[in-house]
Amino acid sequence: MIVDIVTIFPQMFEGPMSVSIIGLARERGLLEVRTHDLRDWTHDRHRTTDDTPYGGGPGMVMKPEPLFEALDAVQRLEDDPGFVVFLTPSGRPFDQRLARDLSSKERLVLVPGRYEGFDERALSLADLELSIGDYVLTGGELPAMVVTDAVARLLPGVLGDDESSTEESFSEGLLEYPQYTRPARFRDMDVPEVLRSGDHARIAAWRREQAVRRTARRRPELLASASLTAEERNVADDEISRAASDAQEGPTND
Ligand code: ADE
Repeated sequence: MIVDIVTIFPQMFEGPMSVSIIGLARERGLLEVRTHDLRDWTHDRHRTTDDTPYGGGPGMVMKPEPLFEALDAVQRLEDDPGFVVFLTPSGRPFDQRLARDLSSKERLVLVPGRYEGFDERALSLADLELSIGDYVLTGGELPAMVVTDAVARLLPGVLGDDESSTEESFSEGLLEYPQYTRPARFRDMDVPEVLRSGDHARIAAWRREQAVRRTARRRPELLASASLTAEERNVADDEISRAASDAQEGPTND
């Protein structure tokens, strides 16, 4: 997959896109990440990419002309013009399903927003406007990296066998079950006996139940689209009513 990013801060991508799994995927030719400085498509001495909003109001707006010129040039770099994603807090909420959809594209062109946002006419260049969550960052660069990371790890060969996402599809739509590693006893806290039993069927059943309980407690809205057996629905309902009575005791992780 090729990911092209059009940004006024190409340097922000250098570290995060060079190390660990993403860095390795690039070295192995499974992923190509290229940044393009939006200012290269400005024509004034100050290389201006923003301007004041029509109608007044605070902040600055990203000018349309450099974005149109940049997209025109960057999209032409390959036969495939790519799927163009603008990063903005007003976009569609990013989630794992969208990550999976995007991972099937040969080429993405990501355009992080800065300032108060894009001139509305520039958004006509976007195939999709994406938000990574209901909070406002100083720009769309971190969101562009989040999207690249979430998509890249789904590409064939990027994760090793040990880290593969097959377990994820099994627990589709649920939070992860609790994990433990050695030592078996640490500061009076024991690893659950079942995980040391060597009984793979019991372990799988325990993990599944823990995932259902944790999801019911922390993110009950996710259960609507998870596929649960009737028995698992009962377990979830049980956990939701326990959570309601525990909530009276005050705030916790759960
Ligand atoms: N730019 C600023 N905040 C953002 C967010 N939450 N998602 C995408 N782009 C952004």
